[in-house]
Amino acid sequence: MIKVLGICGSPVKESNTELIMREALKSVEQEGVQTDIFTVQGKRIEDCRHCNWCMGKQDEGNFCAAKDDMEELYPKVVEADALMVASPVYLARMSGHLASVLDRLRCIHYGKHHAGGMKHKVGAAIAVSWFRNSGIETTLTSIHWGGHYPPLAEQGLQASQGSGILIPKTSIRY
Ligand SMILES: Cc1cc2nc3c(=O)[nH]c(=O)nc-3n(C[C@H](O)[C@H](O)[C@H](O)COP(=O)(O)O)c2cc1C
Repeated sequence: MIKVLGICGSPVKESNTELIMREALKSVEQEGVQTDIFTVQGKRIEDCRHCNWCMGKQDEGNFCAAKDDMEELYPKVVEADALMVASPVYLARMSGHLASVLDRLRCIHYGKHHAGGMKHKVGAAIAVSWFRNSGIETTLTSIHWGGHYPPLAEQGLQASQGSGILIPKTSIRY
């Protein structure tokens, strides 16, 4: 069965980003796909130190030199066929919390044991802002390029006149 893993980059409990990501995951579940969620909310996640430990010393169960809540995420990412990465818009790019997560996933692509682990995955990006025209596209782009190892696809949706009714025709695909 195909597995889609949602990664939510909002530090807020019951955040808008998580709500929208759960709705998106519900729609793929209707297709018989198995879904799972990881959120940064309440998690302790260090930044990547660029120590390159993963490139020289990684083994199957030890992904990274830093031991924190990424240990919960790593096996989920390895198992997933697709990643759905969602972020609140922070200064027109992804949240710092999510950036740390994507940086740390480097060890599932360049790590000694898990080399190339992202190669056959596909992805989708979701961005949630406060204002219109205030960084959705650049946030999607930051996720897209931040995820240069998984081929993250992007999609943007607009609501007419701030009505909240999404217009699928305005989807942006890259
Ligand atoms: C540090 C910070 C920077 C933000 N920058 C932007 C921004 O550039 N554009 C915008 O529209 N909203 C910005 N916001 C607002 C959030 O994107 C908005 O409130 C969003 O709905 C939060 O999603 P969440 O509830 O999932 O955390 C910012 C919020 C924070 C805390």
